[in-house]
Amino acid sequence: MTTKKIVLYVTGGIAAYKVPLLARDLIKKGYQVRVALTQNAQKYVTVDTMQVLTKQDVYTDFTLQKVAYVPHVHLAQWADLAVVVPATANIIAKMAQGLADDFVSTTLLATPGPILVVPAMNDHMWENPATQRNIAQLKADGKRVLEPAHGFLAEGYAAKGRMPEPIEISQAIDESFQSQDLQEKRIVITAGGTQEDLDPVRYLTNKSSGKMGYALAQIAQARGAHVTLISGPTNLTPPTGVDFQPVRTAQEMQVKVNQVYAQADVVIMAAAVADYLPVQTASQKIKKNQDVWHLELKKNVDILQGLGQAKTHQFLVGFAAETQDLIANGQKKLAKKNLDLLVANDVSRSDIGFNSDQNEVTFLASQQAPRKINKAQKHQIAQAILDEIKARQGW
Ligand SMILES: Cc1cc2nc3c(=O)[nH]c(=O)nc-3n(C[C@H](O)[C@H](O)[C@H](O)COP(=O)(O)O)c2cc1C
Repeated sequence: MTTKKIVLYVTGGIAAYKVPLLARDLIKKGYQVRVALTQNAQKYVTVDTMQVLTKQDVYTDFTLQKVAYVPHVHLAQWADLAVVVPATANIIAKMAQGLADDFVSTTLLATPGPILVVPAMNDHMWENPATQRNIAQLKADGKRVLEPAHGFLAEGYAAKGRMPEPIEISQAIDESFQSQDLQEKRIVITAGGTQEDLDPVRYLTNKSSGKMGYALAQIAQARGAHVTLISGPTNLTPPTGVDFQPVRTAQEMQVKVNQVYAQADVVIMAAAVADYLPVQTASQKIKKNQDVWHLELKKNVDILQGLGQAKTHQFLVGFAAETQDLIANGQKKLAKKNLDLLVANDVSRSDIGFNSDQNEVTFLASQQAPRKINKAQKHQIAQAILDEIKARQGW
């Protein structure tokens, strides 16, 4: 449980209505949370709400009644992390210029520690060259900026500018305190499902969402590793800072993995690679002439097996998605593919595994009893997997 101190600087974006959920999540995790609101923020979230949730006075101006010291300097120095959430185009511009014309902007200017900025605004405001210049300036000044998400805006249409969900912001805050314990490690992660073509418009694939692999990439990168993420098609945005290599078929994935294998310290194969592919791929769209279509399939490349055979110094991690006999099947795969660690998960359950944000896994390694990791967010499972690799490698 953390005891870190966080100040949430809330500015006048409509997404401020979600800040109470963020504050509650942070408090549950053990963070000490204080809140400062701009005048405009108070239209979208109340002082009372934030006060009740945090059990602390909320800062709205420079009033000195409650504290006998200069409040902005005190708050600025108290924080282990300052989070501007949501950050309006206005506060971003003020921060980029070093303006200090109200309590929030003054305190941010006086903040000596790290600052995380979470912009949220109309897509045209976000894309405006002035905003983009200001964002670039904040990054150059060493502020961390969490990119807005693409999604439904208050304006009633989908575009980029939306504030990431509180749980994602909470994870980004956790990452800010992440120790850089995987620095200089080269970690290759595969994610998502592959697509195997039947004809120019049809393909075989599976239900993998890519969430586990992307969570691993995000956490490994936050812990300082150099991450290569080789991914089949997904709906996810690759974490910033990773070397992203998109692929479609198992064969393409194998080529990319093999290119980086020699330099890798760790390879984590979280992708759901198609086991079979069509014997033939038609060059023209197959016509709807027959009542029954007998598909002939052949075994696909076995990327993991190849890596296991070619292993020199790499730590090789495989995943086993099973619907029955999880441990027994996992143990077999561990030995057969010459893996150092196998992460077994039961994909017959709808509350975990494919497409879910949560997972429950069991670690299997030779000469070691299976270790179950209780159901948790995929980001927490990713932490546990990386901790296990680190411990086994003696890093
Ligand atoms: C209903 C409404 C919603 C707004 N939402 C946003 C927003 O999401 N992002 C933004 O940058 N500005 C938004 N604005 C504009 C800001 O409130 C305005 O720029 C204000 O000056 C920001 O002040 P502050 O940065 O001191 O809080 C909104 C304004 C209104 C009236």
